[in-house]
Parts: sequence; structure tokens; C-alpha cells
Amino acid sequence: MGTLSRRADIGVGVKSRDMFTTRLGVIFATLGSAVGLGNIWKFPFLTGQNGGAAFVVVYILSTLVVGLPVMIAEQTIGRAARADAVGTLKKLAPNSAWWLVNLLGILSAFFIMAFYTEVAGWVFAYIFKAAGGSILSSDPAVTSAAFTSLVTSPVQSLIWQWVALALVGAIIMLGVSKGIERVTKTLMPVLFGILVIVCIRSVTLPGASEGLTFLVKPDFSKLTWSTVLTAMGLSFFKLSVGMGTMTTYGSYFHEDQNIPATATRVMLSDLLVSMLCGVAIFPAVFAFGFEPAAGPQLLFVTIPAVFSAMPLGRFLMPLFFVLAGIAATGAMLSLYEVPVAFLVGSCGWDRKKATLVTLIALALVGSTAALSSSTLADFKLFGMTMFDLFDYVTSALFLPIGGLFLCLFVGWRWGSAEIKKALSNGGKLDNQLVVTAFTGVVKVVTPALVLIVLLTGLGII
Ligand code: PHE
Repeated sequence: MGTLSRRADIGVGVKSRDMFTTRLGVIFATLGSAVGLGNIWKFPFLTGQNGGAAFVVVYILSTLVVGLPVMIAEQTIGRAARADAVGTLKKLAPNSAWWLVNLLGILSAFFIMAFYTEVAGWVFAYIFKAAGGSILSSDPAVTSAAFTSLVTSPVQSLIWQWVALALVGAIIMLGVSKGIERVTKTLMPVLFGILVIVCIRSVTLPGASEGLTFLVKPDFSKLTWSTVLTAMGLSFFKLSVGMGTMTTYGSYFHEDQNIPATATRVMLSDLLVSMLCGVAIFPAVFAFGFEPAAGPQLLFVTIPAVFSAMPLGRFLMPLFFVLAGIAATGAMLSLYEVPVAFLVGSCGWDRKKATLVTLIALALVGSTAALSSSTLADFKLFGMTMFDLFDYVTSALFLPIGGLFLCLFVGWRWGSAEIKKALSNGGKLDNQLVVTAFTGVVKVVTPALVLIVLLTGLGII
């Protein structure tokens, strides 16, 4: 069915909204948001830092009982209201303060973009460095020096961040169907293909099994409450929930999209990509005797050394950073779309102006993160550089808090009758069991778990 006739049968009031045009487009765009540096940078370094498989188990559990329900909840209200994140809550709960939840979300999108664009900038820089051979050394001291020279240069840091911002800004300007949908639909399959190639290389290295064991054999003695909070924060970050992204994207879904099924597919595919990234990285790290707990530098210091040490690594390394660049782009598009949709939907701006103003604001806020290893290295709040602060505050606080209140909103304020109507597409889907399970989980299980992990993880109880 063509775009026009699809839009026409959605009804009055939404005809002028740009939307995703096909079901597959919805999956790819949503998956494009979920899959990102979270899989390629954060998941491996956090798993490495937090003892391996035990962390993975907690992360998977949290994805199932926290991430997935919040994703379904967000997409559902977005589609029901057909508005931006703040507008959705204003529409569904007029004359109340619920919209503040998604205002916090817009702030989260900004803070995440601030450090995310910087890491994405490093990835783009590394595509060229890897192709040109300048980070080709199996000595971590050499790759570490290369990384340090990039991050400690204010000019290089800012320029690469601007490259990332300009790239996503240009795609956002093209719109939802012609920009976001088309780009993600083309790039996601490429990402998957590259990932599989790198995995095959990694697991066929002699000595690869130790890395696989690290990834799948849990040692729960290493777990603490703060690790559990980290794992939960990662599950929010990974599925792009707790901040209005999925509400915004949900508002572009077609009426007959089966939301629980779509969200489950996206969640499983995202988990698969994370595990494949683990399989691509850890066997190789162990095979060459490197340290899995290198932290945020794992991707930029250890990985180039690992690739340099392996046969064919010279060709696979640029490919791997292309993969990371693709993943980062899809995620940045969804982060960028949150404030843009808000400025267009709730403030009545045109898309071009909204995109440009957001670009400038992001460049300003982002520069404090970009300069965190150089000019602003000594500027610390709560003992953290701005880069670390943006990362910590969003994953450990803002996203869980946003997700918690969103569940409370959907479960208690919006209520069971609306949930049933929306999740069954007005009675067209025969999914009573799914609806009942979701309603119970979103009302009680998810909010209770998030609250307990949040309070204990922060040391409050
Ligand atoms: N899910 C993205 C990733 O894993 C990051 C993201 C977080 C995107 C929040 C949008 C919103 O890289």
C-alpha cells in the first residue's frame, strides 16, 4: 500500500504527520534506535569491567522485565496520542503534571547526545585511522597513545563531534520517512552482515574459548547492588527507553502495527546484536592475552590492538568501525528526533528551524563533554567530568526515573481499559493473554523492581 493511502486511512488530524511507511520500516527504525554504541561500546566494556557472564545474566533479566514493558508502554501511548513525547502526556492526561515526566526525557536526550556524539565522533575518526593504518599496532601502549592524542586535542574532539552532529542533523532534516526510515532500512542489514563476519573471525582464533567462557559462565559472587543498577541502567539505555524516544517513534507507527510483537522482536534482535558484539570481542581479547576490564577505552585501545594482532585484522578493523558508525547513527537519529518532534509538535516550529536550533544547542552542551579530556579535564561536578556526569546521570538516574513514572502513568492513570484497546488495536488482535500480562507487569512488577534497584543501587536503602 502506498504512503498516501496508508496515511489517509489513519484519520483526520494525522494526515499531515510524516510517518513510517511500512511495518518493516518501523522495525528497522526502532531497532536502529536500540542498536548503537550501547551494544558495541558500552555492553562489552561494562561486561568486561563487571566480571562477565553474571553481569550479562542480570542485564538480560532487566531487559525482559523492565526494558521491554517500558518500550511497549511508550510506543503504545505515542501511537494513541500521535504527538511528541511531551504532547502525548498532555493529550492523554490534560490538566495534570504528567507531561513533566517526558520533559525530563527531553533533558535526558540532550545529555545523552552530549556524550554520545563525542563517542560517535571518535568512531568516525577511527574509520579513517583504521583504513589509513595509523592505529595498526598490537602494542596497547601504541594504540593508547593514538587514542590519547585524539581525545586530548580540543580541536579534533570538537570537529569530530560536529561531524557526527552535522550528519544526523542532515538526515533529520529530510524527515521521518525519507530520512530516518530510509537510512536505517538500508544500513541495519549491512551492520548485521559485518558483525557476523567479525564474529566468525574471532571465534576461529586459537584460544578463543576462554573469552566465550567469560561471556557465558556466570560467577555471581562478583555481583553487587551497584552492579545491578548499572545493568538495569544499561537495559534502559540499550532499548532507548525512559526518555520519550519510543513514544516519539510510536507516534509514527501505523494503526495496525502489532506493538507487543514489534517491541519483542526489537528487544530480541538488540540482545542478539549485543551478544554477537561480545562474541566478536571477548574471544579475541582473551586469545591475545589482553585485559577485558579496560573500561570505556576497550573499543578504542584494546580492540585496535586485537585486530592488529589477528590474521586479516587489517581489513576487518575499518569494517568494524564502519559497523560502529552505522549503529551510532541510527541511535543518534532517534535521540535527535525527540527535541525536534517536541519543537515541531508542541511549539509549532517548522522542522528545519527545529533541526537547526537543536543542532546549535547540542553543539553547545556537547562541547562540554567533548572537551572533558582536554580543556575541561579539571572541571568536575560531583567528582566527575562532564562526559562522565552526563553518562552516569542519564543511565543511573534519569532513564530509570522516567521509566518508573511512565509505567505508573500507563498502569494507573491511563488504565487497563485504554491499555486493552490500544494493545489489541481496537479489538482487531486476539492477544488477551499478552494484554493481561502486560497490564500486571506495568502496574506493579516493573515499577517495584525499578524502585528497589534504584534505591539500593544508590545506597539509599
Ligand atoms: N539505544 C542506544 C544505544 O544503545 C542509545 C540510546 C539511548 C538511543 C536512549 C536513544 C535513546 O546505543
